[in-house]
Amino acid sequence: MSKDYSKYFAPSIKDARKRLQKTTNTIAYNLDEELIGIGIDKTYSIKTYGCQGNLADSEKIAGIMEELGYTLSDDENDADVIFFNTCAIRDNAEQRVFGELGRIKSIKTERPNSLIVLCGCMPQEEATVEKVRKTYDQVDIMFGTHNIHKLPEYLKEAYLTKEKIIEVMSFEGDIIENVPMKRAHNVKAWVNIMYGCDEFCTYCIVPYTRGKERSRSPEDIIREVKDLANKGYMEVTLLGQNVNAYGKDFTDSNYSFADLLNDLNKVDIPRIRFTTSHPRDLDTATILAMAKGGNIMPHLHLPVQSGSNTVLKRMNRKYTKESYIDKINELKKHVPDISITTDIIVGFPGETDDDFEETLNLVKEVDYEGAFTFIFSPREGTPASKFEDNTPNDVKKQRLQTLNKLVNEGYAKGNKRFEGRVVEVLVDGVSSKNEAILTGYTSHNKVVNFEGTKNLIGKIVEVKIEKAYSWHLKGSLV
Ligand code: 5AD
Ligand code: SF4
Repeated sequence: MSKDYSKYFAPSIKDARKRLQKTTNTIAYNLDEELIGIGIDKTYSIKTYGCQGNLADSEKIAGIMEELGYTLSDDENDADVIFFNTCAIRDNAEQRVFGELGRIKSIKTERPNSLIVLCGCMPQEEATVEKVRKTYDQVDIMFGTHNIHKLPEYLKEAYLTKEKIIEVMSFEGDIIENVPMKRAHNVKAWVNIMYGCDEFCTYCIVPYTRGKERSRSPEDIIREVKDLANKGYMEVTLLGQNVNAYGKDFTDSNYSFADLLNDLNKVDIPRIRFTTSHPRDLDTATILAMAKGGNIMPHLHLPVQSGSNTVLKRMNRKYTKESYIDKINELKKHVPDISITTDIIVGFPGETDDDFEETLNLVKEVDYEGAFTFIFSPREGTPASKFEDNTPNDVKKQRLQTLNKLVNEGYAKGNKRFEGRVVEVLVDGVSSKNEAILTGYTSHNKVVNFEGTKNLIGKIVEVKIEKAYSWHLKGSLV
Protein backbone atom coordinates (compact mmCIF):
# COMPACT_ATOMS: atom_id res chain seq x y z
CA MET A 1 0.00 0.00 0.00
CA SER A 2 1.16 3.49 -0.77
CA LYS A 3 1.39 6.19 1.86
CA ASP A 4 -1.70 8.34 2.30
CA TYR A 5 0.20 11.53 1.58
CA SER A 6 -2.74 13.90 1.89
CA LYS A 7 -3.47 12.76 5.41
CA TYR A 8 -0.05 12.65 6.96
CA PHE A 9 2.15 15.23 5.32
CA ALA A 10 0.38 18.57 5.56
CA PRO A 11 2.41 21.59 6.71
CA SER A 12 2.21 23.17 10.16
CA ILE A 13 3.13 26.82 10.74
CA LYS A 14 3.50 26.05 14.45
CA ASP A 15 6.15 23.39 13.79
CA ALA A 16 7.83 25.56 11.16
CA ARG A 17 8.44 28.25 13.79
CA LYS A 18 10.51 25.95 16.01
CA ARG A 19 14.26 26.31 16.22
CA LEU A 20 15.44 23.41 18.38
CA GLN A 21 17.82 21.41 16.23
CA LYS A 22 21.44 22.27 17.02
CA THR A 23 23.25 20.70 14.09
CA THR A 24 22.38 20.40 10.43
CA ASN A 25 22.31 17.07 8.64
CA THR A 26 23.97 17.06 5.24
CA ILE A 27 22.49 14.37 3.05
CA ALA A 28 23.79 13.26 -0.34
CA TYR A 29 21.17 13.12 -3.08
CA ASN A 30 20.89 9.62 -4.40
CA LEU A 31 18.64 8.69 -7.29
CA ASP A 32 17.01 5.26 -7.19
CA GLU A 33 18.42 3.85 -10.43
CA GLU A 34 15.17 2.02 -11.14
CA LEU A 35 13.56 5.39 -11.80
CA ILE A 36 15.99 6.50 -14.50
CA GLY A 37 13.97 6.45 -17.71
CA ILE A 38 10.49 7.05 -16.28
CA GLY A 39 10.48 10.32 -18.20
CA ILE A 40 11.58 9.02 -21.57
CA ASP A 41 9.33 10.40 -24.35
CA LYS A 42 7.76 12.76 -21.82
CA THR A 43 8.18 16.49 -21.36
CA TYR A 44 8.07 18.96 -18.47
CA SER A 45 7.64 22.71 -18.04
CA ILE A 46 8.43 24.97 -15.07
CA LYS A 47 7.00 28.37 -14.22
CA THR A 48 9.01 30.05 -11.47
CA TYR A 49 7.77 32.83 -9.18
CA GLY A 50 9.64 34.90 -6.61
CA CYS A 51 13.26 35.19 -5.57
CA GLN A 52 16.58 33.90 -6.89
CA GLY A 53 16.31 31.04 -4.38
CA ASN A 54 13.34 29.78 -6.35
CA LEU A 55 15.17 30.21 -9.65
CA ALA A 56 17.99 28.05 -8.26
CA ASP A 57 15.46 25.48 -7.00
CA SER A 58 13.88 25.33 -10.46
CA GLU A 59 17.31 24.50 -11.88
CA LYS A 60 17.43 21.58 -9.45
CA ILE A 61 13.94 20.43 -10.46
CA ALA A 62 15.03 20.61 -14.11
CA GLY A 63 18.23 18.70 -13.30
CA ILE A 64 16.28 15.90 -11.63
CA MET A 65 13.70 15.76 -14.44
CA GLU A 66 16.38 15.45 -17.12
CA GLU A 67 18.13 12.74 -15.13
CA LEU A 68 14.82 10.84 -15.16
CA GLY A 69 14.69 11.18 -18.95
CA TYR A 70 12.18 14.03 -19.37
CA THR A 71 12.88 16.83 -21.83
CA LEU A 72 12.00 20.49 -21.39
CA SER A 73 8.97 21.75 -23.26
CA ASP A 74 8.77 25.43 -24.09
CA ASP A 75 4.97 25.20 -24.19
CA GLU A 76 3.39 24.24 -20.88
CA ASN A 77 0.10 23.53 -22.66
CA ASP A 78 1.82 20.47 -24.16
CA ALA A 79 3.95 19.31 -21.23
CA ASP A 80 3.38 16.01 -19.45
CA VAL A 81 4.48 17.40 -16.09
CA ILE A 82 3.70 21.06 -15.39
CA PHE A 83 5.48 22.66 -12.42
CA PHE A 84 4.55 25.86 -10.62
CA ASN A 85 7.45 26.75 -8.34
CA THR A 86 5.72 29.29 -6.14
CA CYS A 87 6.39 32.28 -3.88
CA ALA A 88 4.50 33.13 -0.68
CA ILE A 89 6.07 36.46 0.19
CA ARG A 90 3.08 38.64 -0.75
CA ASP A 91 -0.54 37.94 -1.52
CA ASN A 92 -0.33 39.14 -5.13
CA ALA A 93 2.33 36.50 -5.91
CA GLU A 94 -0.07 33.84 -4.62
CA GLN A 95 -3.09 35.21 -6.49
CA ARG A 96 -1.18 34.97 -9.77
CA VAL A 97 -0.56 31.28 -9.12
CA PHE A 98 -4.22 30.62 -8.27
CA GLY A 99 -5.14 32.36 -11.53
CA GLU A 100 -2.75 30.07 -13.44
CA LEU A 101 -4.15 26.98 -11.74
CA GLY A 102 -7.64 28.02 -12.84
CA ARG A 103 -6.44 28.52 -16.39
CA ILE A 104 -4.62 25.20 -16.53
CA LYS A 105 -7.69 23.19 -15.48
CA SER A 106 -8.70 22.72 -19.12
CA ILE A 107 -5.34 21.00 -19.81
CA LYS A 108 -6.26 18.31 -17.29
CA THR A 109 -9.59 17.81 -19.01
CA GLU A 110 -7.95 17.49 -22.43
CA ARG A 111 -4.98 15.41 -21.25
CA PRO A 112 -5.92 13.60 -18.03
CA ASN A 113 -2.52 11.87 -17.86
CA SER A 114 -0.61 15.11 -17.49
CA LEU A 115 0.56 15.95 -13.96
CA ILE A 116 0.25 19.38 -12.34
CA VAL A 117 2.78 20.04 -9.60
CA LEU A 118 2.63 22.87 -7.07
CA CYS A 119 5.93 23.31 -5.23
CA GLY A 120 8.08 25.97 -3.56
CA CYS A 121 6.90 28.25 -0.76
CA MET A 122 3.09 28.20 -1.15
CA PRO A 123 2.68 24.52 -0.17
CA GLN A 124 4.59 25.31 3.04
CA GLU A 125 1.52 27.26 4.21
CA GLU A 126 -1.28 25.38 5.93
CA ALA A 127 -4.04 27.56 4.51
CA THR A 128 -2.78 27.21 0.93
CA VAL A 129 -2.63 23.43 1.05
CA GLU A 130 -6.18 23.32 2.42
CA LYS A 131 -7.40 25.73 -0.25
CA VAL A 132 -5.77 23.76 -3.07
CA ARG A 133 -7.12 20.46 -1.75
CA LYS A 134 -10.63 21.85 -1.56
CA THR A 135 -10.80 24.00 -4.68
CA TYR A 136 -8.06 23.03 -7.13
CA ASP A 137 -8.59 19.36 -7.83
CA GLN A 138 -6.41 19.70 -10.93
CA VAL A 139 -3.25 19.75 -8.78
CA ASP A 140 -1.74 16.24 -8.58
CA ILE A 141 1.43 16.74 -6.55
CA MET A 142 2.33 19.26 -3.85
CA PHE A 143 5.70 19.37 -2.14
CA GLY A 144 7.57 22.12 -0.35
CA THR A 145 11.02 23.64 -0.15
CA HIS A 146 12.62 20.88 1.96
CA ASN A 147 12.02 17.89 -0.27
CA ILE A 148 12.78 18.68 -3.91
CA HIS A 149 15.16 15.73 -3.81
CA LYS A 150 12.19 13.37 -3.32
CA LEU A 151 10.59 14.42 -6.60
CA PRO A 152 11.41 11.10 -8.38
CA GLU A 153 9.54 9.19 -5.67
CA TYR A 154 6.49 11.49 -5.94
CA LEU A 155 6.33 11.06 -9.71
CA LYS A 156 6.54 7.29 -9.37
CA GLU A 157 3.77 7.28 -6.73
CA ALA A 158 1.56 9.56 -8.82
CA TYR A 159 1.89 7.34 -11.90
CA LEU A 160 1.34 4.13 -9.92
CA THR A 161 -1.49 5.16 -7.63
CA LYS A 162 -3.21 7.96 -9.57
CA GLU A 163 -3.71 9.46 -6.10
CA LYS A 164 -2.85 12.99 -5.05
CA ILE A 165 0.59 13.29 -3.51
CA ILE A 166 1.00 15.92 -0.80
CA GLU A 167 4.19 15.91 1.20
CA VAL A 168 5.31 19.08 2.95
CA MET A 169 7.86 19.06 5.74
CA SER A 170 7.61 21.67 8.48
CA PHE A 171 10.90 20.90 10.15
CA GLU A 172 14.01 22.98 10.50
CA GLY A 173 15.67 21.56 7.42
CA ASP A 174 18.65 19.58 6.18
CA ILE A 175 21.15 20.32 3.45
CA ILE A 176 20.94 18.11 0.41
CA GLU A 177 24.16 18.04 -1.61
CA ASN A 178 24.76 16.76 -5.15
CA VAL A 179 21.28 17.45 -6.51
CA PRO A 180 21.80 17.67 -10.28
CA MET A 181 21.17 21.14 -11.73
CA LYS A 182 20.20 22.12 -15.22
CA ARG A 183 21.35 25.72 -15.19
CA ALA A 184 19.32 28.26 -17.12
CA HIS A 185 22.40 30.20 -18.31
CA ASN A 186 25.87 29.16 -19.38
CA VAL A 187 27.70 32.31 -18.26
CA LYS A 188 26.02 33.33 -14.99
CA ALA A 189 25.14 30.89 -12.19
CA TRP A 190 23.39 30.87 -8.82
CA VAL A 191 25.23 29.18 -5.97
CA ASN A 192 23.35 28.56 -2.73
CA ILE A 193 25.64 29.18 0.23
CA MET A 194 22.98 28.76 2.89
CA TYR A 195 19.31 27.95 3.27
CA GLY A 196 16.58 29.22 5.57
CA CYS A 197 16.30 32.23 7.84
CA ASP A 198 16.28 32.73 11.62
CA GLU A 199 15.58 36.46 11.63
CA PHE A 200 11.79 36.28 12.02
CA CYS A 201 11.04 39.80 10.80
CA THR A 202 7.44 40.11 11.95
CA TYR A 203 5.98 40.58 8.44
CA CYS A 204 7.87 37.77 6.75
CA ILE A 205 6.80 34.22 5.93
CA VAL A 206 10.26 33.04 4.82
CA PRO A 207 11.50 31.65 8.18
CA TYR A 208 8.39 29.43 8.14
CA THR A 209 8.57 28.37 4.51
CA ARG A 210 12.34 27.87 4.30
CA GLY A 211 13.25 26.64 7.79
CA LYS A 212 16.31 27.15 9.95
CA GLU A 213 19.45 28.97 8.81
CA ARG A 214 21.90 26.34 7.66
CA SER A 215 25.16 26.91 5.87
CA ARG A 216 26.77 24.72 3.24
CA SER A 217 30.38 23.84 3.95
CA PRO A 218 32.97 26.23 2.48
CA GLU A 219 34.60 23.27 0.72
CA ASP A 220 31.36 22.38 -1.13
CA ILE A 221 30.80 26.01 -2.14
CA ILE A 222 34.37 26.65 -3.28
CA ARG A 223 34.38 23.36 -5.21
CA GLU A 224 31.15 24.36 -6.98
CA VAL A 225 32.48 27.81 -7.89
CA LYS A 226 35.78 26.35 -9.18
CA ASP A 227 33.85 23.82 -11.22
CA LEU A 228 31.70 26.60 -12.73
CA ALA A 229 34.85 28.60 -13.53
CA ASN A 230 36.34 25.56 -15.28
CA LYS A 231 33.17 25.24 -17.34
CA GLY A 232 33.57 28.82 -18.54
CA TYR A 233 31.11 30.59 -16.24
CA MET A 234 31.95 34.25 -15.79
CA GLU A 235 29.78 35.20 -12.83
CA VAL A 236 28.28 33.56 -9.77
CA THR A 237 25.73 35.02 -7.39
CA LEU A 238 25.95 33.58 -3.89
CA LEU A 239 22.47 33.02 -2.51
CA GLY A 240 21.02 33.05 0.98
CA GLN A 241 18.13 34.82 2.73
CA ASN A 242 20.69 36.42 5.00
CA VAL A 243 24.16 35.76 3.59
CA ASN A 244 25.78 37.73 6.41
CA ALA A 245 24.71 35.01 8.82
CA TYR A 246 26.71 32.47 6.78
CA GLY A 247 28.65 30.14 9.08
CA LYS A 248 26.94 31.22 12.31
CA ASP A 249 25.47 27.73 12.56
CA PHE A 250 28.86 25.98 12.31
CA THR A 251 29.57 24.28 15.62
CA ASP A 252 33.18 23.39 14.85
CA SER A 253 34.60 26.54 13.22
CA ASN A 254 34.39 30.34 13.15
CA TYR A 255 34.45 30.50 9.35
CA SER A 256 32.36 33.51 8.30
CA PHE A 257 30.86 35.12 5.21
CA ALA A 258 33.89 37.44 5.00
CA ASP A 259 36.20 34.39 4.99
CA LEU A 260 34.14 32.90 2.17
CA LEU A 261 34.40 36.11 0.11
CA ASN A 262 38.15 36.25 0.69
CA ASP A 263 38.54 32.61 -0.37
CA LEU A 264 36.35 33.07 -3.45
CA ASN A 265 38.35 36.16 -4.40
CA LYS A 266 41.25 33.75 -5.02
CA VAL A 267 39.20 31.60 -7.42
CA ASP A 268 39.74 32.35 -11.08
CA ILE A 269 36.22 33.51 -11.91
CA PRO A 270 35.69 37.12 -13.03
CA ARG A 271 32.63 38.10 -11.01
CA ILE A 272 31.18 37.26 -7.61
CA ARG A 273 27.92 38.80 -6.41
CA PHE A 274 25.78 37.94 -3.40
CA THR A 275 22.26 38.44 -2.15
CA THR A 276 20.59 39.12 0.26
CA SER A 277 22.32 40.93 3.10
CA HIS A 278 20.85 41.78 6.47
CA PRO A 279 22.02 45.16 7.85
CA ARG A 280 22.42 43.89 11.39
CA ASP A 281 24.76 41.08 10.39
CA LEU A 282 26.79 43.02 7.82
CA ASP A 283 30.15 43.35 9.57
CA THR A 284 33.39 45.26 9.06
CA ALA A 285 35.19 42.11 7.91
CA THR A 286 32.70 41.75 5.04
CA ILE A 287 33.05 45.42 4.12
CA LEU A 288 36.84 45.00 4.07
CA ALA A 289 36.49 41.87 1.92
CA MET A 290 34.42 43.94 -0.54
CA ALA A 291 37.01 46.72 -0.38
CA LYS A 292 39.65 44.34 -1.76
CA GLY A 293 37.79 44.43 -5.07
CA GLY A 294 39.13 41.72 -7.36
CA ASN A 295 36.20 39.58 -8.40
CA ILE A 296 33.88 40.88 -5.64
CA MET A 297 31.54 43.29 -7.41
CA PRO A 298 31.04 46.86 -6.06
CA HIS A 299 27.28 46.55 -5.56
CA LEU A 300 25.39 45.83 -2.37
CA HIS A 301 21.69 45.15 -1.96
CA LEU A 302 21.01 46.08 1.66
CA PRO A 303 17.28 45.98 2.47
CA VAL A 304 16.36 48.72 4.96
CA GLN A 305 12.54 48.19 4.94
CA SER A 306 11.82 51.48 6.77
CA GLY A 307 13.54 54.67 7.92
CA SER A 308 11.57 54.92 11.15
CA ASN A 309 12.97 53.41 14.34
CA THR A 310 9.51 52.66 15.75
CA VAL A 311 8.53 50.79 12.59
CA LEU A 312 11.89 48.97 12.46
CA LYS A 313 11.33 47.84 16.03
CA ARG A 314 7.85 46.53 15.26
CA MET A 315 9.29 44.79 12.22
CA ASN A 316 11.87 43.09 14.51
CA ARG A 317 14.69 44.24 12.25
CA LYS A 318 17.14 44.58 15.19
CA TYR A 319 18.88 47.74 13.93
CA THR A 320 18.11 51.44 14.02
CA LYS A 321 18.13 54.03 11.28
CA GLU A 322 21.32 55.44 12.85
CA SER A 323 23.18 52.12 12.96
CA TYR A 324 22.09 51.40 9.37
CA ILE A 325 23.46 54.76 8.21
CA ASP A 326 26.72 54.12 10.12
CA LYS A 327 27.16 50.90 8.12
CA ILE A 328 26.40 52.69 4.86
CA ASN A 329 29.03 55.33 5.70
CA GLU A 330 31.55 52.63 6.55
CA LEU A 331 30.82 50.94 3.21
CA LYS A 332 31.16 54.18 1.27
CA LYS A 333 34.44 54.92 3.04
CA HIS A 334 36.00 51.57 2.15
CA VAL A 335 34.34 51.02 -1.25
CA PRO A 336 34.01 54.63 -2.48
CA ASP A 337 32.50 53.80 -5.85
CA ILE A 338 29.91 51.34 -4.48
CA SER A 339 26.35 51.18 -5.77
CA ILE A 340 23.75 50.52 -3.07
CA THR A 341 20.21 49.25 -3.59
CA THR A 342 17.51 48.29 -1.11
CA ASP A 343 14.03 46.92 -0.33
CA ILE A 344 11.37 49.08 1.35
CA ILE A 345 7.93 48.21 2.71
CA VAL A 346 5.33 50.98 3.03
CA GLY A 347 2.06 50.78 4.92
CA PHE A 348 3.40 48.52 7.66
CA PRO A 349 0.74 48.37 10.44
CA GLY A 350 0.84 51.59 12.43
CA GLU A 351 3.14 53.46 10.00
CA THR A 352 2.29 57.17 10.41
CA ASP A 353 2.87 60.03 7.99
CA ASP A 354 5.90 60.98 10.09
CA ASP A 355 7.30 57.44 9.95
CA PHE A 356 6.91 57.48 6.18
CA GLU A 357 8.59 60.89 6.01
CA GLU A 358 11.57 59.36 7.83
CA THR A 359 11.77 56.66 5.18
CA LEU A 360 11.87 59.33 2.46
CA ASN A 361 14.61 61.19 4.33
CA LEU A 362 16.66 58.02 4.67
CA VAL A 363 16.32 57.28 0.95
CA LYS A 364 17.68 60.77 0.21
CA GLU A 365 20.50 60.42 2.73
CA VAL A 366 21.73 57.02 1.50
CA ASP A 367 21.43 57.92 -2.21
CA TYR A 368 20.18 54.49 -3.29
CA GLU A 369 20.72 53.65 -6.92
CA GLY A 370 17.66 51.41 -6.96
CA ALA A 371 15.02 49.88 -4.70
CA PHE A 372 12.30 47.27 -4.71
CA THR A 373 9.30 48.82 -3.01
CA PHE A 374 6.25 47.02 -1.66
CA ILE A 375 3.01 47.64 0.18
CA PHE A 376 2.82 45.52 3.33
CA SER A 377 0.95 42.28 2.69
CA PRO A 378 -0.27 40.39 5.78
CA ARG A 379 0.88 36.75 5.80
CA GLU A 380 -1.13 34.29 7.83
CA GLY A 381 0.85 32.90 10.76
CA THR A 382 3.25 35.87 11.05
CA PRO A 383 3.02 38.27 14.04
CA ALA A 384 2.43 41.39 11.88
CA SER A 385 -0.68 39.86 10.31
CA LYS A 386 -2.32 40.39 13.71
CA PHE A 387 -1.04 43.95 14.27
CA GLU A 388 -3.66 46.67 14.19
CA ASP A 389 -3.60 48.35 10.80
CA ASN A 390 -5.59 51.58 10.51
CA THR A 391 -3.99 53.05 7.40
CA PRO A 392 -6.45 53.18 4.48
CA ASN A 393 -5.39 51.44 1.28
CA ASP A 394 -5.40 54.61 -0.80
CA VAL A 395 -2.96 56.23 1.66
CA LYS A 396 -0.66 53.22 1.31
CA LYS A 397 -0.87 53.45 -2.48
CA GLN A 398 -0.12 57.17 -2.35
CA ARG A 399 2.92 56.51 -0.15
CA LEU A 400 4.17 53.90 -2.58
CA GLN A 401 3.82 56.36 -5.47
CA THR A 402 5.65 59.12 -3.60
CA LEU A 403 8.42 56.71 -2.65
CA ASN A 404 8.73 55.32 -6.18
CA LYS A 405 9.14 58.82 -7.59
CA LEU A 406 12.09 59.40 -5.27
CA VAL A 407 13.55 55.95 -5.94
CA ASN A 408 13.34 56.56 -9.70
CA GLU A 409 15.32 59.77 -9.29
CA GLY A 410 17.94 57.59 -7.57
CA TYR A 411 18.04 55.17 -10.52
CA ALA A 412 18.55 58.06 -12.94
CA LYS A 413 21.20 59.73 -10.78
CA GLY A 414 22.99 56.40 -10.26
CA ASN A 415 23.13 55.91 -14.03
CA LYS A 416 24.16 59.49 -14.77
CA ARG A 417 27.38 59.16 -12.77
CA PHE A 418 28.67 56.71 -15.36
CA GLU A 419 28.38 59.07 -18.33
CA GLY A 420 31.80 59.47 -19.93
CA ARG A 421 33.29 56.51 -18.04
CA VAL A 422 34.68 53.32 -19.56
CA VAL A 423 33.08 50.31 -17.86
CA GLU A 424 33.43 46.55 -18.08
CA VAL A 425 30.30 44.84 -19.36
CA LEU A 426 29.55 41.12 -19.19
CA VAL A 427 27.57 40.61 -22.40
CA ASP A 428 24.29 38.77 -21.81
CA GLY A 429 22.78 38.67 -25.27
CA VAL A 430 21.13 40.77 -27.94
CA SER A 431 18.53 43.39 -27.17
CA SER A 432 14.92 42.17 -27.46
CA LYS A 433 14.15 45.09 -29.77
CA ASN A 434 17.17 45.13 -32.08
CA GLU A 435 19.45 42.22 -33.04
CA ALA A 436 22.38 44.55 -33.73
CA ILE A 437 22.38 45.84 -30.17
CA LEU A 438 24.05 43.86 -27.40
CA THR A 439 23.03 44.08 -23.78
CA GLY A 440 24.87 43.27 -20.57
CA TYR A 441 25.64 44.27 -17.01
CA THR A 442 28.43 46.42 -15.56
CA SER A 443 30.23 45.47 -12.37
CA HIS A 444 27.85 47.89 -10.56
CA ASN A 445 24.93 45.87 -11.98
CA LYS A 446 23.77 48.53 -14.47
CA VAL A 447 22.26 47.50 -17.79
CA VAL A 448 24.24 48.71 -20.82
CA ASN A 449 23.18 48.60 -24.49
CA PHE A 450 25.73 49.01 -27.27
CA GLU A 451 26.34 48.00 -30.86
CA GLY A 452 28.25 44.78 -31.32
CA THR A 453 28.36 41.31 -32.80
CA LYS A 454 26.97 38.15 -31.27
CA ASN A 455 30.41 36.55 -30.83
CA LEU A 456 30.87 38.88 -27.83
CA ILE A 457 28.04 37.20 -25.89
CA GLY A 458 29.43 35.68 -22.72
CA LYS A 459 32.56 37.87 -22.75
CA ILE A 460 33.55 40.89 -20.68
CA VAL A 461 34.18 43.92 -22.90
CA GLU A 462 35.02 47.57 -22.32
CA VAL A 463 32.30 50.04 -23.20
CA LYS A 464 32.43 53.83 -23.12
CA ILE A 465 29.17 55.19 -21.66
CA GLU A 466 27.74 57.94 -23.81
CA LYS A 467 24.32 58.49 -22.37
CA ALA A 468 22.45 57.55 -19.21
CA TYR A 469 18.71 56.86 -19.30
CA SER A 470 16.39 56.10 -16.39
CA TRP A 471 16.71 52.31 -16.64
CA HIS A 472 19.82 51.71 -18.71
CA LEU A 473 23.05 53.11 -20.11
CA LYS A 474 24.00 53.49 -23.75
CA GLY A 475 27.57 53.28 -24.96
CA SER A 476 29.97 52.06 -27.58
CA LEU A 477 32.69 49.42 -27.62
CA VAL A 478 36.14 50.76 -26.83
N1 5AD B 1 4.70 42.35 2.67
C1 5AD B 1 5.37 43.16 1.81
N2 5AD B 1 6.65 43.00 1.49
C2 5AD B 1 7.32 41.97 2.05
N3 5AD B 1 8.59 41.57 1.94
C3 5AD B 1 8.76 40.47 2.71
N4 5AD B 1 7.60 40.16 3.33
C4 5AD B 1 6.69 41.09 2.93
C5 5AD B 1 5.32 41.30 3.25
N5 5AD B 1 4.67 40.52 4.09
C6 5AD B 1 9.59 42.27 1.14
C7 5AD B 1 10.76 42.77 1.98
C8 5AD B 1 11.87 41.81 1.59
C9 5AD B 1 11.52 41.50 0.15
C10 5AD B 1 12.15 40.27 -0.39
O1 5AD B 1 10.12 41.37 0.18
O2 5AD B 1 11.07 44.08 1.57
O3 5AD B 1 13.16 42.38 1.71
FE1 SF4 C 1 12.29 37.59 5.74
FE2 SF4 C 1 13.65 39.12 7.47
FE3 SF4 C 1 14.54 36.63 6.86
FE4 SF4 C 1 14.67 38.59 5.01
S1 SF4 C 1 15.77 38.54 7.00
S2 SF4 C 1 13.95 36.47 4.70
S3 SF4 C 1 12.83 39.79 5.45
S4 SF4 C 1 12.64 37.15 7.94
